[in-house]
Amino acid sequence: MHRTLADDLQRLPDLLQSARDFAAREVGGLAERPVARIDAAPARAPLPEVGVGAEGALTRFADRWSAGFSGSAGPRYLGFVTGGATPAALTGDWLTAAYDQNASGGGDSSATALERETLSWLRELFGLGEDHTAAFVSGATASNTVGLAIAREWLGERLGVSVSREGVGALGPVEVLSGSPHSSIGKALSVLGIGRDRLRAVPVLPGNREAVDVDRLADALDALGGRPAVVVANAGTVNTVDFDDLRAIAALRERYDFWLHVDAAFGGFAALSPTYASLVDGLDTADSVCVDLHKWLNVPYDAAVQFTRRQDLQVRVFHNASPYLGPPTGDPDFLHLTPENSRRLRALPAWFSLTAYGREGHREIVERNVALAGRLGEGIAQIPQLRLLAPVRLNVVCFTPADDPSEERVRALAKAVAASGEAFVTPTSYAGTPALRAAFSNWRTTEGDVDRVLAALRRHGAGLGPRGD
Ligand SMILES: Cc1ncc(COP(=O)(O)O)c(C=O)c1O
Repeated sequence: MHRTLADDLQRLPDLLQSARDFAAREVGGLAERPVARIDAAPARAPLPEVGVGAEGALTRFADRWSAGFSGSAGPRYLGFVTGGATPAALTGDWLTAAYDQNASGGGDSSATALERETLSWLRELFGLGEDHTAAFVSGATASNTVGLAIAREWLGERLGVSVSREGVGALGPVEVLSGSPHSSIGKALSVLGIGRDRLRAVPVLPGNREAVDVDRLADALDALGGRPAVVVANAGTVNTVDFDDLRAIAALRERYDFWLHVDAAFGGFAALSPTYASLVDGLDTADSVCVDLHKWLNVPYDAAVQFTRRQDLQVRVFHNASPYLGPPTGDPDFLHLTPENSRRLRALPAWFSLTAYGREGHREIVERNVALAGRLGEGIAQIPQLRLLAPVRLNVVCFTPADDPSEERVRALAKAVAASGEAFVTPTSYAGTPALRAAFSNWRTTEGDVDRVLAALRRHGAGLGPRGD
């Protein structure tokens, strides 16, 4: 064995202790470290010809890189939809690396059985029934892609062709209808050979809404003259967290032939709270469902789940039959269900967090985050230089400069807030207006954090000029 490797093996307990001490300091200081670090990367170093050992690598990482890493796991990072990592999830993640199991299949370890147990818990958590099977993927984009790949195979079934064998050309043009789809849907359609341009925008409800107008959806389906289609329903839009009426959409299946995919990447977590669960009423009627775990479950990147009622079609698309991997069985190995073959045991952080805090603990995170978003929204309404663009429906606050909300001014405000190190919010465009979003999905965030975010917005919004009302 290489001498440095052999030395590291001998000192492994000390090395893990050093890493533990370092990580504990970093995580312990999360609430106070700059929330975002812009332009903080050092110049690239050359490839090391001779290594310095793991302790040496840790020292170099600490010297060169750690200070430039953002506080994205911390309480005032409100960009995109970013969860943190609960203490239990972090523990599970460390052990995932320590065990280094390949979750692609069974036969040598109970690790895949743990993954199945976790998936069944998640199914229950999101109010889905036994008809839905599940698999782990890397994120909501991957989950949407897998869901739409199954939809594509279903379209083939309806038209009497096999897409997985003959290719997507056998389908002819595909109709995909949605009100306010996330950009990952277009990406998925591109990856799947269906084409981004096949995504048809269906009008949304009037009055600051992003939820699809179900009557207009019915009209669009009617216009297809009986041709089967795919409907992407949205349970939690990124800008204003609006929800399509899933029951009403599902009811359209009595008249029209379509696959119902629901992107519930973070909105699915409404199911955890009796107060908000009605927003996802009907989720269990979907043919495929996307839920992201590295968002509101607060497990580390990367983890999401893909649920479907048609595992048979999923296996047709994704099976990887070879003599050394074995054929798909009644309870197929995970390698037959998603694009990946070998991969880490993605379930362990979720298993740890659900075991440690239960449904109750995760419900509390969701409800607290929603209350905090409401608090930020109320605070922003009091800042003359800013204005809310939509009511705060759940966990995202969408706002913009009161005067001249140009892209330039929005970006300038986002940059000033980020440079202050106090908070991080990300730009968007809502109903044609450049805007900012503050998304709450971190388990650590408190009222005190919201007040600090408000202070930063007040300070950096001051230069924007007052609202004219
Ligand atoms: C509704 C929705 N769908 C999909 C995604 C994509 O998620 P990921 O970045 O995990 O692929 C997001 C991310 O914010 C989202 O909010």
